[in-house]
Amino acid sequence: MARIPKETVDQILHLADIVEVVGDFVTLKRKGQNMWACCPFHHEKSPSFSVAPAKGLYKCFGCGKAGGVIQFIMDIEGTSYVEALKYLAKKYGVDIQEEEKTPEEQLIQNDKDSQYIISNWAKDHYHKLLTETDEGQSIGLSYLRQRGLNQQTIKTFELGYSLDQWDDLLKSAEKAGFERKYLEKTGLAIERKDDQGKDTGRRYDRFRGRVMFPIHNISGRVIGFGARTLKANDKSAKYLNSPESDIYHKSDVLYGLYQARQAIRNEEVCYLVEGYLDVLSLHQGDIRNVVASSGTSLTESQIRLIGRYTDNVTVLYDGDAAGIRASLRGIDLILEGGLNVRVVLFPDGDDPDSYIRKVGDQRFKEYLENNSQDFISFKTNLVAKEAAHDPVKKAEAIRDVLQSIAKVPDPIKRQVFLQQTSGTFGIDEQVLITEYNKLVKNASGKAAGGSPPNNNSTTAAKPASASASTRGPQLQPELSPEDEAAMYGATEELFGPPAASSSLADDSEVEPVPDVLQACEREVVRLLLLYAAQPLADDISVAQYLFSQLDETPIRTPIYADMLHLCREEMEQGRWPEVRTFIQHGRGDIRSLVSDLATEKYELSPNWSTHQIYVPRELDQLQQACDNAILRLNKVNVQRELAARLDSLREPLDEETLMETLHAVKLLKQMDDQLGNMLGTVIPRGA
Ligand code: CTP
Ligand code: MN
Repeated sequence: MARIPKETVDQILHLADIVEVVGDFVTLKRKGQNMWACCPFHHEKSPSFSVAPAKGLYKCFGCGKAGGVIQFIMDIEGTSYVEALKYLAKKYGVDIQEEEKTPEEQLIQNDKDSQYIISNWAKDHYHKLLTETDEGQSIGLSYLRQRGLNQQTIKTFELGYSLDQWDDLLKSAEKAGFERKYLEKTGLAIERKDDQGKDTGRRYDRFRGRVMFPIHNISGRVIGFGARTLKANDKSAKYLNSPESDIYHKSDVLYGLYQARQAIRNEEVCYLVEGYLDVLSLHQGDIRNVVASSGTSLTESQIRLIGRYTDNVTVLYDGDAAGIRASLRGIDLILEGGLNVRVVLFPDGDDPDSYIRKVGDQRFKEYLENNSQDFISFKTNLVAKEAAHDPVKKAEAIRDVLQSIAKVPDPIKRQVFLQQTSGTFGIDEQVLITEYNKLVKNASGKAAGGSPPNNNSTTAAKPASASASTRGPQLQPELSPEDEAAMYGATEELFGPPAASSSLADDSEVEPVPDVLQACEREVVRLLLLYAAQPLADDISVAQYLFSQLDETPIRTPIYADMLHLCREEMEQGRWPEVRTFIQHGRGDIRSLVSDLATEKYELSPNWSTHQIYVPRELDQLQQACDNAILRLNKVNVQRELAARLDSLREPLDEETLMETLHAVKLLKQMDDQLGNMLGTVIPRGA
């Protein structure tokens, strides 16, 4: 077993910064003392994954994954402790003084480790063949040169060459002491079958006489290969690719993302192309924020992967019409993923690779700038042109475009697109809006009627985009952003993370949750459970609205926090939270809460009536009920924080803490007043 000395481990832990390590995989945003992102371990639309820099820990309040830097790498890669340490050592330039190990010993780790190790070895092997053998140089390297690739690009992408023999890799692996089964598991070797399709026990190399493109995951490990033939009239496929394996899931991988991720973050846009060569040529032309779908249609998880780094995708297309048509659906998927999509078309016959080689880097960049159009406008123009002389087709085309528009999460953008579309088709805007609303209502009506809104439906009030809306009782910006940040920090500190899960560090005693706060939280849960699918204005459902307004407000009462969590999970599965689902829940306390909420007659809460808060008749005033519930909850939280701050002033404080506390008190009072005004009521002190 590989042993790494304790001093080395300590040195790595000392150097490794959790924010940097995690930041290679997701874009973290600061809020209060912690950093937040959408969790890389489970699918979610609003961030519940947090990193506490001071503590060197990460924790997801959604799925519960938690730990330090080493655990993070183990979790995200599925590797062993030792492999995770090696990754960090490489990142931080720490020499690992491992005892000399034979490749066999290296392989006694976990099965996934072994597949990573052999893939990495094969990559090095192919690279050496390319650069150091006669065959590699005269065939492989000269081909790459002829395609315009320079040495630096070949190195950055670790390109290689496989000899034109049946068993070069098999033999070399054996010589190096690797077990054959890992060549098979990673698809580098193929079993030879006899006429009856039975395994003969003989093996041969999958890749022969091809230029090799290693495929990296986001942490830079090789997980598979693409391989291009060099023969002009090859009967076999132009590209061969590694099959799926334990470490290579095609639908979760984008070619070039490892080399592109930093540039994507800096440039705040990701260029999406089709081919390996497109990525390489653009990267060499100093356009580094580029990834390829590798010829397959885009998947949701690839889109989520991009979404970890940026909200903006620009799709670069070859100009042929068939290709464009085929890709429209994939682009709708990007929209559904909440990303902004633009499109650049190249002149017929050119792909990004051939075009940049034709016009040069500078003119290519200008071309991108001058020719990118918003996807909806692009699609509208395309289908409008196709349907120009056919009224039946035209009606279809319009509905098609409206369905794409319904996938845009931002209501203002939807508005603009509707205006544009009305112009392009020459249709009265009001007529178009009516048509749009019909379409959306049909979709969401079905959902409200009980059937789950499926992923292909075009409801604008789609549960999946729970955090899309930002309308609502927002605080007015009298508070500076810094002040607000300070507020959040303070609130977070006092209230801790949501009660659903244990806190990152101090799991000290649980403080009882006051009745008034419980009542406020209960009301939010009640509205969510009973009216989740109901549309509010602007096609936002009650559930979307409540979640977007709650944002990171902690829910302190454990059962309500759990209930909220369950609702969110339902929505992430594409279903509305429903009484009839939860009434079957495995937990008795959940079942009885749900049946209470569903059956109790709605009365004025004693707490609220004493506070003279106006309680609206609901259903006809659902929006107001939601707003009031959120405002009340915020107000009670603010008041609790205020009380705690005032309380702390009774003790002697050092000057810095005193100033900070006074500042916080001032802000909290302002917020409290504001919330009071928004509720249209004066609430007695000391709630
Ligand atoms: N592809 C594949 N298998 C094939 C053909 C294509 O996996 N038989 C994938 C490859 O990832 C390829 C991409 O689809 O890069 C785009 O295919 P294509 O446009 O045909 O190839 P180019 O990338 O343009 O390659 P080249 O310029 O070398 O012809
Ligand atoms: Mn090409």
